[in-house]
Parts: sequence; structure tokens; C-alpha cells
Amino acid sequence: MELLKERIRKDGVMKPGNVLKVDSFLNHQMDIELFNEMGKEFKRRFEGVKIDKILTIEASGIGIAAIVAQYFKCPVVFAKKSQSINLDGTMLSAPVESFTHKRKYEVIVASKFLHPDENVLVIDDFMANGCAAAGLCQIIEAAHANVAGIGIVIEKGFQHGGAMLRGRGYRVESLAIVEEMDPETQTIRFRED
Ligand code: G4P
Ligand code: NA
Ligand code: NA
Repeated sequence: MELLKERIRKDGVMKPGNVLKVDSFLNHQMDIELFNEMGKEFKRRFEGVKIDKILTIEASGIGIAAIVAQYFKCPVVFAKKSQSINLDGTMLSAPVESFTHKRKYEVIVASKFLHPDENVLVIDDFMANGCAAAGLCQIIEAAHANVAGIGIVIEKGFQHGGAMLRGRGYRVESLAIVEEMDPETQTIRFRED
């Protein structure tokens, strides 16, 4: 998505350790006009795919998922994160290991919000190693629902999440895929659409 790539080039800040800061428009301050364009683009990419619900993960997935849902006209559920949980059958959970933040947590969704045979689109702002998205897919499948696809705003193509999830047969649509970035020169290269 050209508009997003331009914005990343203009306002993204590359940090050592392969971290791309986009907090001026994506995951701290949010540019809702841009979010609306991203919502339209996800709708275009998943045209003809039946979507009953969107699943995302707190915190920074929620804003974009809520805007995207307006184009799919469906509800949004966000998974919660917790260090420890008591599973009593009313909750579905999956373990996630964050490489960026070097910590482990559980992602949790109340089972009453995911129904068998529902078609669920996973939406998130970033994908690095894909652990969060994989955890969401695991929860959807534990509910006997279907993963209709995975929509990501920014995928770091040099990390392995995208390849791993596409290799498992999921349709992953990322609005911008970063192939390479250099914090020293502040240059970035995107995969061609
Ligand atoms: P993974 O899920 O793809 O394996 O990614 P990882 O655990 O490494 O990412 C952990 C968190 O860091 C995620 O947010 C993810 O969105 C974010 N992240 C990963 N790489 C980057 C990056 O280059 N730039 C920025 N800005 N964020 C990145 P989170 O832990 O779920 O936190 P929250 O912000 O949603 O609360
Ligand atoms: Na994040
Ligand atoms: Na996120």
C-alpha cells in the first residue's frame, strides 16, 4: 500500500535491533484518516472472503481492528494478555513468546465470543516472528472456528512470522512488508506488492 509506505518513509524511525518506530501515526498517536484507508485496503484484499468477526490482541491491535471492522461490518474481539491464568473452560488461551519484549505471556479470549464455524479475520499492527498471530490462530481453531485470513499493517519480512504462517497455509495480507532497514542511514526497503 503506497500511501502507508510513503508515511513510513516520512515518519518512521529505525532503531538498532531491527525496531521500526511508527508511534506518531500507528501505535501511540493514531492517524484515523490513514486507518480508514487501511480499512478499505484490507476490505479490497479480502474481497469475496466471508468474514464474521475480527480477532486482534491488546493493546495496539485494537485501534486498527476497530476501524477495519467498519468496512467488514462485523464485531471485533480482542485477546487479552496475562502472565498467568486459571483456565476454567470458559477461556481459550495460547502461549506467546515475544522476542521484541523478551517475555512470555498467555493470550486469552472468552470462549463465548468465538463460535464453531465462524470465519475470523486476524488483524494486528505489526508482525515480527508471528508468535502473536500464531497464538490467535490457535485460539480460533480451538474454538472450531475458521481462520479466514491474517491482515497485518507492517510485516518485518526479514523476520520469520510471515513465512511461517504462509507456510502453514494461512492467507497473510500485509499492507507494507519491510525487507531491510538501516538505522544508520535511516533507509528502508519494502517488498514490492
Ligand atoms: P511477534 O508477535 O510477531 O512474534 O512479534 P514480537 O513478539 O517480537 O513483538 C512484540 C510486540 O512488539 C508486539 O506488540 C509487536 O506488535 C511489536 N513489534 C514487533 N516489532 C516491532 C517493530 O519493529 N516496531 C514496533 N513499533 N513494534 C514492533 P505487543 O507486545 O503486542 O504490544 P502492544 O504494543 O500491542 O501492547
Ligand atoms: Na505493538
Ligand atoms: Na500489536
